[in-house]
Amino acid sequence: LAIGLVLLSMLLVTLPIVSGATGGDSLDFTPNKYADKTLTVNGQTINYRAFENIVYVKNPVDAKYQVMNIYVPQEYYEGKSIDNYTAETAPVFLPNMVGGYMPGLPGVPGPDRETGSPNAVFLALSKGYVVAAPGVRGRTTQDENGQYTGKAPAAIVDLKAAVRYLRHNDEIMPGDAEKIISNGTSAGGALSSLLGATGNHKDYEPYLKAIGAADERDDIFAVSAYCPITNLENADMAYEWQFNGINQYSKMVAGIRPPRELSAPPENQGAMSLERPNSPQMKGTMSAGQIRYSGELKAMFPAYINGLGLKQSDGTALTLDEQGNGSFKEYVKSFVIASAQKALKSGKDLSALNWLTIIDGTVTDIDFDKYMAYATRAKQTPAFDGWDLSNPENDEFGTVAVTAQHFTQFGKEHSTVGGSLADAGVVKMMNPMNYIGSEGIATAKHWRIRHGNVDRDTSLAIPVILATKLINNGVEVDFAMPWEQPHGGDYDLDELFDWIGRVCD
Ligand code: DHB
Repeated sequence: LAIGLVLLSMLLVTLPIVSGATGGDSLDFTPNKYADKTLTVNGQTINYRAFENIVYVKNPVDAKYQVMNIYVPQEYYEGKSIDNYTAETAPVFLPNMVGGYMPGLPGVPGPDRETGSPNAVFLALSKGYVVAAPGVRGRTTQDENGQYTGKAPAAIVDLKAAVRYLRHNDEIMPGDAEKIISNGTSAGGALSSLLGATGNHKDYEPYLKAIGAADERDDIFAVSAYCPITNLENADMAYEWQFNGINQYSKMVAGIRPPRELSAPPENQGAMSLERPNSPQMKGTMSAGQIRYSGELKAMFPAYINGLGLKQSDGTALTLDEQGNGSFKEYVKSFVIASAQKALKSGKDLSALNWLTIIDGTVTDIDFDKYMAYATRAKQTPAFDGWDLSNPENDEFGTVAVTAQHFTQFGKEHSTVGGSLADAGVVKMMNPMNYIGSEGIATAKHWRIRHGNVDRDTSLAIPVILATKLINNGVEVDFAMPWEQPHGGDYDLDELFDWIGRVCD
């Protein structure tokens, strides 16, 4: 294949990129529609071949988003290899740019919007990966008749269709479609997890057929997920288990984003509530009713946890008593303790943190209540299934004709707007927990999950449950809670690509 590519590229002159989306009527990759590009960020230069705006389904519902950008390191067209990878063997890095369950445009190489350093797409290319960056439909898009085109499960269906396109074209495209590594943050991290957890499951088949996805497998090799806002139908309980007793809330005002580089329009900027100093805050105190319901939701969480049958690596059952204490809580704490220990070892002064117990240079315990007072609550009760249907997740579970719905029985029962309940099958399809360990799926073999220890967009329990369910089902998971890291992703790209390199070897 590599030789073929070199010969082909010698025969072809660089063609100008056709404006707008290309493809659509065929699922065959067109190797001669590309632009050769050079990009410098922070003094580092990469040369790559760009195949942009490729429609990855036969019957696109929304051709603005059901398109993919494919980038290939130029070296592979010169017969060279990068770190032992060739055009044939290079793994495929598959980042999605979804934030807030909004639609996401395909990613592009450039500076990271936070740091100005090379972003994940740029770094992936510099390290010899082929990048396939799919656009994904989201909860807000409507067609000319006002029908919604991207409500659940559209986003995961699109990611699967993109994977199928890559497999369909594996012979003629650079990169190895058996080595796809998905990456995403927040809602995008949830989708990345879902993609890795539901490989080839029949539930999604009718949706894939309807949009004309390639008839191929859609399992992937590895998952990177930053702060996945996942397990939505259990996330309200988990949130109150963690924050009950904290009645003040403060969070960044949704939708406010700092100015970004021109190469990244709003829809491909990812996670929506990245927290940074001086961002406008929405603050308040919860009502007496909310405080009461916080207690009710908290009280429902132990039954959920105990029903999961999760185990620690030594076989200890992870459970909670009626008060929400027990081995599961100690287990969640252990990740925070490990994070603090790492920070201490790296020379950080943690002596001012009254919730940490440090004895002779070892972090031995945390006081969970004091820790929560320190971390603070971001969201009001209920955090996800809003009773007035105003949360992004309500919107995500709308339908073609209905803007927003409930997705928990508790939410529907307390609806202040007479909201309807989303179809149970659709709610199921958005939660990786419903698939891990079940029949008829191929689960990604390698996972890297990160959730900052002061990320309050969902409970710390959510990523812990996900990681543990995977581990209990024999999957390799690298899970950590980076120290003092709020809601966000792609903040440790060197470590991420070291991990990807290791699992791909
Ligand atoms: C995101 C953040 C949230 O708090 C949420 O509820 C859903 C999505 C995000 O940043 O993608």
